[in-house]
Amino acid sequence: MKDENFLKANNARSLWHPMTAPADSLKNPPAIITSASGVRIKDIDGHEVVDAVGGLWNVNLGYSCQPIKDAIAAQLDALPYYSIFRGTSNDKVIELAEELRAFFEPDGLTRAFYTSGGSDSVETALRLARQYHKIKGEPGRIKYLSLKKGYHGTHFGGASVNGNANFRTAYEPLLPGCHHIPAPYPYRNPFNETDPAKLAQLCLQALEDEIAFQGAGTIAAFIMEPVLGAGGVIPPHESFMPGVSAICRKNGILLIADEVITAFGRTGAWTGSRLWGVQPDFSCTAKAITNAYFPFGAVMIAEGVAQVFEKDETGRAAIGHGYTYSGHPVGAAAALATLAETKRLRVNENAAARGAQLFEGLKALKAKHSAIGDVRGGHGLMLAIEMVGDRATKSAPDKAVPATVQKVAYESGAMVRVSGPNIILSPPLVITEGDAEVILGALDKGFAAL
Ligand SMILES: Cc1ncc(COP(=O)(O)O)c(C=O)c1O
Repeated sequence: MKDENFLKANNARSLWHPMTAPADSLKNPPAIITSASGVRIKDIDGHEVVDAVGGLWNVNLGYSCQPIKDAIAAQLDALPYYSIFRGTSNDKVIELAEELRAFFEPDGLTRAFYTSGGSDSVETALRLARQYHKIKGEPGRIKYLSLKKGYHGTHFGGASVNGNANFRTAYEPLLPGCHHIPAPYPYRNPFNETDPAKLAQLCLQALEDEIAFQGAGTIAAFIMEPVLGAGGVIPPHESFMPGVSAICRKNGILLIADEVITAFGRTGAWTGSRLWGVQPDFSCTAKAITNAYFPFGAVMIAEGVAQVFEKDETGRAAIGHGYTYSGHPVGAAAALATLAETKRLRVNENAAARGAQLFEGLKALKAKHSAIGDVRGGHGLMLAIEMVGDRATKSAPDKAVPATVQKVAYESGAMVRVSGPNIILSPPLVITEGDAEVILGALDKGFAAL
Protein backbone atom coordinates (compact mmCIF):
# COMPACT_ATOMS: atom_id res chain seq x y z
CA MET A 1 0.00 0.00 0.00
CA LYS A 2 1.19 3.53 -0.75
CA ASP A 3 2.08 5.47 2.37
CA GLU A 4 -0.52 7.40 4.32
CA ASN A 5 0.62 10.84 3.16
CA PHE A 6 0.46 9.83 -0.50
CA LEU A 7 -3.11 8.53 -0.10
CA LYS A 8 -4.34 11.54 1.82
CA ALA A 9 -2.70 13.99 -0.57
CA ASN A 10 -3.91 12.30 -3.72
CA ASN A 11 -7.41 11.10 -2.89
CA ALA A 12 -9.38 13.49 -5.05
CA ARG A 13 -6.54 14.56 -7.34
CA SER A 14 -7.10 11.89 -9.95
CA LEU A 15 -10.49 10.43 -9.08
CA TRP A 16 -14.05 11.69 -8.99
CA HIS A 17 -16.39 10.37 -6.32
CA PRO A 18 -19.97 9.40 -7.19
CA MET A 19 -22.76 11.56 -5.78
CA THR A 20 -20.37 14.37 -4.80
CA ALA A 21 -19.12 17.59 -6.38
CA PRO A 22 -15.45 17.11 -7.34
CA ALA A 23 -14.55 20.36 -5.58
CA ASP A 24 -16.22 19.14 -2.40
CA SER A 25 -14.02 16.04 -2.31
CA LEU A 26 -10.96 18.26 -2.57
CA LYS A 27 -12.19 20.60 0.18
CA ASN A 28 -13.53 17.91 2.54
CA PRO A 29 -11.30 14.86 2.24
CA PRO A 30 -13.28 11.68 2.87
CA ALA A 31 -12.44 9.02 5.43
CA ILE A 32 -10.11 6.55 3.73
CA ILE A 33 -11.23 3.09 4.77
CA THR A 34 -8.50 0.51 4.60
CA SER A 35 -9.83 -2.53 6.46
CA ALA A 36 -12.93 -4.00 8.03
CA SER A 37 -13.93 -6.87 10.23
CA GLY A 38 -17.27 -8.04 11.59
CA VAL A 39 -19.51 -4.96 11.45
CA ARG A 40 -16.64 -2.52 11.97
CA ILE A 41 -14.58 -0.52 9.49
CA LYS A 42 -11.16 0.96 10.14
CA ASP A 43 -9.73 4.10 8.53
CA ILE A 44 -6.21 4.96 7.49
CA ASP A 45 -5.57 6.55 10.90
CA GLY A 46 -6.50 3.31 12.67
CA HIS A 47 -9.86 4.69 13.91
CA GLU A 48 -12.42 1.88 14.08
CA VAL A 49 -16.19 2.39 14.10
CA VAL A 50 -19.42 0.42 13.76
CA ASP A 51 -20.56 0.72 10.16
CA ALA A 52 -24.15 1.95 10.52
CA VAL A 53 -24.31 2.30 6.72
CA GLY A 54 -23.63 -1.38 6.05
CA GLY A 55 -21.36 -0.49 3.11
CA LEU A 56 -24.23 0.96 1.10
CA TRP A 57 -27.23 -1.07 2.34
CA ASN A 58 -25.46 -4.15 1.06
CA VAL A 59 -22.99 -5.68 3.53
CA ASN A 60 -25.82 -7.49 5.31
CA LEU A 61 -23.63 -10.23 6.78
CA GLY A 62 -20.72 -8.01 7.77
CA TYR A 63 -17.17 -7.92 6.49
CA SER A 64 -15.88 -11.26 7.75
CA CYS A 65 -18.15 -13.75 6.03
CA GLN A 66 -15.62 -16.46 5.26
CA PRO A 67 -17.89 -18.84 3.27
CA ILE A 68 -18.47 -16.11 0.68
CA LYS A 69 -14.78 -15.24 0.46
CA ASP A 70 -13.96 -18.92 0.06
CA ALA A 71 -16.62 -19.38 -2.63
CA ILE A 72 -15.24 -16.43 -4.59
CA ALA A 73 -11.66 -17.69 -4.33
CA ALA A 74 -12.65 -21.22 -5.38
CA GLN A 75 -14.66 -19.94 -8.33
CA LEU A 76 -11.77 -17.77 -9.52
CA ASP A 77 -9.73 -20.96 -9.68
CA ALA A 78 -12.43 -23.06 -11.37
CA LEU A 79 -13.91 -20.61 -13.89
CA PRO A 80 -13.22 -16.90 -13.47
CA TYR A 81 -15.52 -15.87 -16.31
CA TYR A 82 -17.64 -17.10 -19.14
CA SER A 83 -20.58 -15.44 -20.84
CA ILE A 84 -24.12 -16.82 -20.66
CA PHE A 85 -25.26 -15.15 -23.87
CA ARG A 86 -26.92 -17.49 -26.36
CA GLY A 87 -25.24 -20.88 -26.57
CA THR A 88 -23.30 -21.08 -23.28
CA SER A 89 -24.04 -21.28 -19.60
CA ASN A 90 -22.19 -22.22 -16.43
CA ASP A 91 -22.87 -24.49 -13.49
CA LYS A 92 -23.10 -21.73 -10.88
CA VAL A 93 -25.80 -19.64 -12.61
CA ILE A 94 -27.97 -22.72 -13.06
CA GLU A 95 -27.63 -23.70 -9.42
CA LEU A 96 -28.26 -20.13 -8.30
CA ALA A 97 -31.43 -19.79 -10.39
CA GLU A 98 -32.88 -22.84 -8.62
CA GLU A 99 -31.96 -21.39 -5.21
CA LEU A 100 -33.45 -18.00 -6.08
CA ARG A 101 -36.58 -19.65 -7.40
CA ALA A 102 -37.04 -21.42 -4.06
CA PHE A 103 -36.28 -18.26 -2.09
CA PHE A 104 -38.72 -16.09 -4.07
CA GLU A 105 -41.39 -18.78 -4.48
CA PRO A 106 -43.69 -17.12 -1.88
CA ASP A 107 -43.49 -13.93 -3.97
CA GLY A 108 -44.59 -15.86 -7.07
CA LEU A 109 -41.26 -15.19 -8.81
CA THR A 110 -39.84 -18.15 -10.68
CA ARG A 111 -37.24 -16.99 -13.24
CA ALA A 112 -34.01 -15.03 -12.84
CA PHE A 113 -32.34 -12.61 -15.25
CA TYR A 114 -28.85 -11.73 -14.04
CA THR A 115 -27.32 -8.26 -13.94
CA SER A 116 -24.27 -6.50 -12.51
CA GLY A 117 -26.04 -4.27 -9.98
CA GLY A 118 -29.15 -2.40 -8.96
CA SER A 119 -29.35 0.13 -11.79
CA ASP A 120 -28.92 -2.71 -14.27
CA SER A 121 -31.72 -4.64 -12.59
CA VAL A 122 -34.08 -1.67 -12.80
CA GLU A 123 -33.20 -1.10 -16.45
CA THR A 124 -33.82 -4.77 -17.19
CA ALA A 125 -37.25 -4.82 -15.54
CA LEU A 126 -38.33 -1.60 -17.28
CA ARG A 127 -37.30 -3.00 -20.66
CA LEU A 128 -38.80 -6.45 -20.18
CA ALA A 129 -42.07 -4.83 -19.05
CA ARG A 130 -42.39 -3.01 -22.37
CA GLN A 131 -41.48 -6.15 -24.28
CA TYR A 132 -44.10 -8.16 -22.38
CA HIS A 133 -46.84 -5.87 -23.65
CA LYS A 134 -45.45 -5.95 -27.18
CA ILE A 135 -45.51 -9.75 -27.13
CA LYS A 136 -49.11 -9.61 -25.92
CA GLY A 137 -50.07 -7.32 -28.78
CA GLU A 138 -50.34 -4.09 -26.78
CA PRO A 139 -47.38 -2.12 -28.15
CA GLY A 140 -48.93 1.15 -27.00
CA ARG A 141 -48.17 0.35 -23.37
CA ILE A 142 -44.87 2.18 -23.08
CA LYS A 143 -45.15 4.60 -20.14
CA TYR A 144 -43.95 4.15 -16.58
CA LEU A 145 -45.43 5.38 -13.32
CA SER A 146 -43.49 5.73 -10.08
CA LEU A 147 -43.37 7.54 -6.75
CA LYS A 148 -41.92 10.93 -6.00
CA LYS A 149 -39.07 10.39 -3.51
CA GLY A 150 -38.43 6.94 -5.01
CA TYR A 151 -34.87 5.95 -5.94
CA HIS A 152 -34.20 3.55 -8.78
CA GLY A 153 -30.54 3.99 -9.63
CA THR A 154 -28.86 6.13 -12.20
CA HIS A 155 -29.25 4.63 -15.67
CA PHE A 156 -31.39 6.80 -17.93
CA GLY A 157 -34.42 4.55 -17.39
CA GLY A 158 -33.93 4.46 -13.64
CA ALA A 159 -33.25 8.18 -13.41
CA SER A 160 -36.42 8.82 -15.43
CA VAL A 161 -38.58 6.99 -12.89
CA ASN A 162 -36.57 8.45 -10.00
CA GLY A 163 -38.52 10.80 -7.78
CA ASN A 164 -35.78 13.14 -6.62
CA ALA A 165 -34.57 16.16 -8.59
CA ASN A 166 -30.99 15.69 -7.36
CA PHE A 167 -30.61 12.69 -9.63
CA ARG A 168 -32.50 14.11 -12.58
CA THR A 169 -32.06 17.80 -13.30
CA ALA A 170 -28.43 17.79 -14.43
CA TYR A 171 -29.12 14.93 -16.82
CA GLU A 172 -32.38 16.05 -18.44
CA PRO A 173 -34.02 15.46 -20.81
CA LEU A 174 -34.85 12.04 -19.46
CA LEU A 175 -37.05 9.31 -20.93
CA PRO A 176 -40.42 10.60 -22.12
CA GLY A 177 -43.56 8.97 -20.73
CA CYS A 178 -42.51 8.74 -17.08
CA HIS A 179 -44.98 10.15 -14.58
CA HIS A 180 -44.84 10.41 -10.81
CA ILE A 181 -47.41 10.34 -8.05
CA PRO A 182 -47.01 11.65 -4.48
CA ALA A 183 -45.18 9.39 -2.05
CA PRO A 184 -47.01 8.15 1.06
CA TYR A 185 -44.74 10.32 3.23
CA PRO A 186 -46.73 11.53 6.24
CA TYR A 187 -44.17 14.14 7.38
CA ARG A 188 -44.41 16.11 4.13
CA ASN A 189 -47.01 15.64 1.41
CA PRO A 190 -49.15 17.82 -0.85
CA PHE A 191 -52.34 16.73 0.95
CA ASN A 192 -51.12 17.97 4.35
CA GLU A 193 -52.23 14.60 5.72
CA THR A 194 -50.36 13.16 8.68
CA ASP A 195 -52.43 10.00 9.14
CA PRO A 196 -50.55 7.22 7.27
CA ALA A 197 -53.69 5.20 6.42
CA LYS A 198 -55.60 8.21 5.08
CA LEU A 199 -52.52 9.39 3.21
CA ALA A 200 -52.12 5.96 1.59
CA GLN A 201 -55.68 6.23 0.26
CA LEU A 202 -55.05 9.74 -1.08
CA CYS A 203 -51.92 8.57 -2.89
CA LEU A 204 -53.82 5.61 -4.32
CA GLN A 205 -56.50 7.99 -5.57
CA ALA A 206 -53.76 10.08 -7.19
CA LEU A 207 -52.51 6.91 -8.89
CA GLU A 208 -55.97 6.10 -10.22
CA ASP A 209 -56.37 9.67 -11.37
CA GLU A 210 -53.03 9.59 -13.22
CA ILE A 211 -53.89 6.28 -14.90
CA ALA A 212 -57.24 7.69 -16.06
CA PHE A 213 -55.48 10.82 -17.33
CA GLN A 214 -52.72 8.97 -19.21
CA GLY A 215 -54.98 6.14 -20.36
CA ALA A 216 -54.35 2.69 -18.89
CA GLY A 217 -53.57 1.32 -22.36
CA THR A 218 -50.50 3.56 -22.60
CA ILE A 219 -48.85 2.40 -19.37
CA ALA A 220 -46.39 -0.49 -19.19
CA ALA A 221 -45.49 -0.62 -15.51
CA PHE A 222 -45.53 0.97 -12.11
CA ILE A 223 -42.25 0.74 -10.19
CA MET A 224 -41.85 1.24 -6.44
CA GLU A 225 -39.64 0.34 -3.52
CA PRO A 226 -41.63 -1.59 -0.87
CA VAL A 227 -40.02 0.74 1.67
CA LEU A 228 -38.53 3.84 0.07
CA GLY A 229 -34.86 3.89 0.97
CA ALA A 230 -32.48 6.47 -0.46
CA GLY A 231 -35.29 9.05 -0.59
CA GLY A 232 -35.17 9.16 3.20
CA VAL A 233 -36.54 5.79 4.44
CA ILE A 234 -40.28 6.18 3.94
CA PRO A 235 -42.25 3.09 4.98
CA PRO A 236 -45.70 3.30 3.41
CA HIS A 237 -48.81 2.35 5.34
CA GLU A 238 -49.50 -1.38 5.10
CA SER A 239 -52.48 -0.71 2.81
CA PHE A 240 -50.41 1.11 0.21
CA MET A 241 -48.50 -1.51 -1.76
CA PRO A 242 -51.46 -3.96 -1.79
CA GLY A 243 -53.57 -1.04 -3.05
CA VAL A 244 -51.04 -0.27 -5.79
CA SER A 245 -50.97 -3.94 -6.76
CA ALA A 246 -54.78 -4.11 -7.04
CA ILE A 247 -54.94 -0.95 -9.18
CA CYS A 248 -52.17 -2.23 -11.45
CA ARG A 249 -53.89 -5.60 -11.92
CA LYS A 250 -57.22 -3.92 -12.68
CA ASN A 251 -55.58 -1.81 -15.38
CA GLY A 252 -53.26 -4.39 -16.96
CA ILE A 253 -50.20 -2.51 -15.66
CA LEU A 254 -47.21 -4.56 -14.50
CA LEU A 255 -45.90 -4.00 -10.98
CA ILE A 256 -42.14 -3.80 -10.59
CA ALA A 257 -40.93 -4.09 -6.99
CA ASP A 258 -37.54 -2.42 -6.66
CA GLU A 259 -36.12 -4.64 -3.94
CA VAL A 260 -32.49 -3.66 -4.44
CA ILE A 261 -32.39 -2.74 -0.73
CA THR A 262 -35.32 -4.68 0.71
CA ALA A 263 -34.69 -8.20 -0.61
CA PHE A 264 -32.91 -10.72 1.61
CA GLY A 265 -34.17 -9.67 5.03
CA ARG A 266 -33.48 -5.99 5.59
CA THR A 267 -37.07 -5.10 6.50
CA GLY A 268 -37.42 -8.01 8.91
CA ALA A 269 -39.29 -9.96 6.21
CA TRP A 270 -37.38 -11.92 3.58
CA THR A 271 -38.57 -9.49 0.90
CA GLY A 272 -40.34 -6.16 0.96
CA SER A 273 -43.15 -7.50 -1.20
CA ARG A 274 -43.70 -10.32 1.28
CA LEU A 275 -43.77 -7.77 4.10
CA TRP A 276 -46.87 -6.27 2.48
CA GLY A 277 -48.33 -9.51 1.09
CA VAL A 278 -47.91 -8.46 -2.53
CA GLN A 279 -46.85 -10.57 -5.51
CA PRO A 280 -45.14 -8.29 -8.06
CA ASP A 281 -44.53 -9.06 -11.73
CA PHE A 282 -40.83 -8.26 -11.49
CA SER A 283 -38.55 -7.85 -8.52
CA CYS A 284 -35.22 -6.05 -8.91
CA THR A 285 -32.45 -7.31 -6.64
CA ALA A 286 -28.73 -6.63 -6.27
CA LYS A 287 -26.63 -5.36 -3.34
CA ALA A 288 -27.00 -7.95 -0.53
CA ILE A 289 -27.38 -10.79 -3.02
CA THR A 290 -23.59 -11.20 -2.76
CA ASN A 291 -23.19 -9.37 0.55
CA ALA A 292 -21.51 -6.69 -1.59
CA TYR A 293 -18.43 -8.84 -2.13
CA PHE A 294 -19.05 -9.01 -5.89
CA PRO A 295 -21.11 -6.66 -8.14
CA PHE A 296 -24.12 -8.76 -9.08
CA GLY A 297 -27.89 -8.61 -9.36
CA ALA A 298 -30.93 -10.57 -10.45
CA VAL A 299 -34.31 -9.55 -11.75
CA MET A 300 -36.86 -12.07 -10.57
CA ILE A 301 -39.79 -12.65 -12.91
CA ALA A 302 -43.33 -13.79 -12.09
CA GLU A 303 -44.56 -17.08 -13.50
CA GLY A 304 -47.33 -15.38 -15.50
CA VAL A 305 -44.91 -12.98 -17.17
CA ALA A 306 -42.46 -15.81 -17.83
CA GLN A 307 -45.19 -17.83 -19.53
CA VAL A 308 -45.94 -14.98 -21.94
CA PHE A 309 -42.30 -14.88 -23.03
CA GLU A 310 -41.78 -18.64 -23.10
CA LYS A 311 -44.99 -19.49 -24.97
CA ASP A 312 -44.66 -16.71 -27.54
CA GLU A 313 -45.21 -17.73 -31.13
CA THR A 314 -45.02 -14.26 -32.65
CA GLY A 315 -41.22 -14.01 -32.67
CA ARG A 316 -41.33 -10.97 -30.42
CA ALA A 317 -39.90 -12.66 -27.30
CA ALA A 318 -36.21 -12.72 -28.20
CA ILE A 319 -34.48 -10.83 -25.41
CA GLY A 320 -32.31 -8.14 -26.98
CA HIS A 321 -30.94 -7.12 -23.64
CA GLY A 322 -28.15 -8.30 -21.35
CA TYR A 323 -24.79 -7.38 -19.92
CA THR A 324 -21.33 -8.85 -20.44
CA TYR A 325 -21.39 -9.67 -16.75
CA SER A 326 -24.97 -11.04 -16.66
CA GLY A 327 -24.48 -14.37 -14.91
CA HIS A 328 -20.82 -13.85 -13.99
CA PRO A 329 -19.79 -17.19 -12.46
CA VAL A 330 -17.85 -15.56 -9.63
CA GLY A 331 -20.88 -13.41 -8.77
CA ALA A 332 -23.13 -16.45 -8.93
CA ALA A 333 -20.80 -18.41 -6.63
CA ALA A 334 -20.75 -15.47 -4.22
CA ALA A 335 -24.56 -15.27 -4.35
CA LEU A 336 -24.96 -18.99 -3.64
CA ALA A 337 -22.76 -18.74 -0.55
CA THR A 338 -24.46 -15.52 0.55
CA LEU A 339 -27.93 -16.98 0.22
CA ALA A 340 -26.94 -20.03 2.24
CA GLU A 341 -25.47 -17.88 5.04
CA THR A 342 -28.37 -15.43 4.93
CA LYS A 343 -30.85 -18.25 5.47
CA ARG A 344 -28.72 -20.15 8.00
CA LEU A 345 -28.29 -17.07 10.18
CA ARG A 346 -31.96 -16.06 9.74
CA VAL A 347 -30.78 -12.48 9.51
CA ASN A 348 -34.31 -11.22 8.94
CA GLU A 349 -35.11 -12.02 12.57
CA ASN A 350 -32.16 -10.07 13.90
CA ALA A 351 -32.98 -7.23 11.50
CA ALA A 352 -36.46 -7.01 13.01
CA ALA A 353 -35.21 -7.09 16.61
CA ARG A 354 -32.32 -4.65 16.17
CA GLY A 355 -34.49 -2.43 13.97
CA ALA A 356 -37.07 -2.16 16.76
CA GLN A 357 -34.30 -1.33 19.25
CA LEU A 358 -32.84 1.38 17.00
CA PHE A 359 -36.29 2.84 16.24
CA GLU A 360 -37.06 3.20 19.97
CA GLY A 361 -33.61 4.73 20.47
CA LEU A 362 -34.17 7.25 17.67
CA LYS A 363 -37.51 8.26 19.17
CA ALA A 364 -35.72 8.92 22.47
CA LEU A 365 -33.14 11.04 20.63
CA LYS A 366 -35.97 13.03 19.02
CA ALA A 367 -37.42 13.78 22.46
CA LYS A 368 -34.01 15.14 23.48
CA HIS A 369 -32.73 17.05 20.43
CA SER A 370 -34.74 19.81 18.73
CA ALA A 371 -32.79 19.48 15.46
CA ILE A 372 -34.61 16.19 14.88
CA GLY A 373 -37.89 16.81 13.07
CA ASP A 374 -38.90 13.25 12.28
CA VAL A 375 -37.64 9.72 12.83
CA ARG A 376 -38.65 6.87 10.57
CA GLY A 377 -38.28 3.13 10.85
CA GLY A 378 -40.30 0.28 12.27
CA HIS A 379 -39.47 -2.19 9.51
CA GLY A 380 -36.14 -3.75 10.24
CA LEU A 381 -32.80 -2.11 9.68
CA MET A 382 -33.86 0.81 7.49
CA LEU A 383 -34.12 3.95 9.59
CA ALA A 384 -33.78 7.68 9.15
CA ILE A 385 -33.59 10.89 11.12
CA GLU A 386 -34.85 13.97 9.28
CA MET A 387 -33.17 17.11 10.56
CA VAL A 388 -34.90 20.50 10.61
CA GLY A 389 -33.96 24.08 11.41
CA ASP A 390 -37.26 24.62 13.15
CA ARG A 391 -39.76 21.93 14.15
CA ALA A 392 -42.82 24.15 13.73
CA THR A 393 -42.08 25.21 10.16
CA LYS A 394 -40.05 22.06 9.26
CA SER A 395 -37.49 24.36 7.67
CA ALA A 396 -34.26 22.89 6.33
CA PRO A 397 -31.42 22.55 8.83
CA ASP A 398 -28.44 24.86 8.63
CA LYS A 399 -25.92 23.43 6.13
CA ALA A 400 -23.37 22.70 8.84
CA VAL A 401 -25.78 20.61 10.93
CA PRO A 402 -25.76 17.24 9.09
CA ALA A 403 -21.99 17.42 8.60
CA THR A 404 -21.39 18.16 12.28
CA VAL A 405 -23.62 15.33 13.46
CA GLN A 406 -21.91 12.93 11.08
CA LYS A 407 -18.39 14.01 12.06
CA VAL A 408 -18.99 13.81 15.80
CA ALA A 409 -20.84 10.49 15.45
CA TYR A 410 -17.85 9.13 13.53
CA GLU A 411 -15.43 10.33 16.18
CA SER A 412 -17.73 8.73 18.76
CA GLY A 413 -17.77 5.27 17.18
CA ALA A 414 -20.28 5.05 14.31
CA MET A 415 -20.22 5.75 10.58
CA VAL A 416 -23.62 7.18 9.59
CA ARG A 417 -24.72 8.39 6.17
CA VAL A 418 -26.00 11.87 5.43
CA SER A 419 -28.30 12.37 2.46
CA GLY A 420 -29.75 15.89 2.22
CA PRO A 421 -31.47 16.61 5.56
CA ASN A 422 -31.57 12.91 6.46
CA ILE A 423 -29.28 10.67 8.43
CA ILE A 424 -29.85 7.20 7.10
CA LEU A 425 -29.10 4.03 9.05
CA SER A 426 -28.72 0.72 7.23
CA PRO A 427 -26.27 -1.36 9.27
CA PRO A 428 -25.39 -4.99 8.60
CA LEU A 429 -28.22 -7.31 9.60
CA VAL A 430 -25.87 -9.12 11.98
CA ILE A 431 -25.29 -6.22 14.40
CA THR A 432 -25.63 -7.03 18.08
CA GLU A 433 -27.62 -5.17 20.72
CA GLY A 434 -24.32 -3.63 21.86
CA ASP A 435 -23.47 -2.44 18.33
CA ALA A 436 -26.90 -0.76 18.11
CA GLU A 437 -26.22 1.00 21.43
CA VAL A 438 -22.90 2.25 20.04
CA ILE A 439 -24.74 3.74 17.04
CA LEU A 440 -27.33 5.44 19.25
CA GLY A 441 -24.69 6.76 21.64
CA ALA A 442 -22.63 8.17 18.78
CA LEU A 443 -25.68 9.92 17.32
CA ASP A 444 -26.57 11.32 20.74
CA LYS A 445 -23.09 12.86 20.95
CA GLY A 446 -23.44 14.14 17.38
CA PHE A 447 -26.64 16.02 18.15
CA ALA A 448 -25.35 17.21 21.53
CA ALA A 449 -22.46 18.88 19.67
CA LEU A 450 -24.79 21.24 17.72
C1 LIG B 1 -33.98 0.90 -4.53
C2 LIG B 1 -32.75 1.02 -5.35
N1 LIG B 1 -32.78 0.73 -6.66
C3 LIG B 1 -31.69 0.80 -7.43
C4 LIG B 1 -30.48 1.17 -6.91
C5 LIG B 1 -29.28 1.27 -7.80
O1 LIG B 1 -28.38 0.27 -7.47
P1 LIG B 1 -26.84 0.38 -7.96
O2 LIG B 1 -26.26 1.55 -7.22
O3 LIG B 1 -26.26 -0.94 -7.55
O4 LIG B 1 -26.83 0.57 -9.43
C6 LIG B 1 -30.39 1.47 -5.54
C7 LIG B 1 -29.11 1.89 -4.94
O5 LIG B 1 -29.03 2.29 -3.81
C8 LIG B 1 -31.54 1.41 -4.76
O6 LIG B 1 -31.52 1.72 -3.45
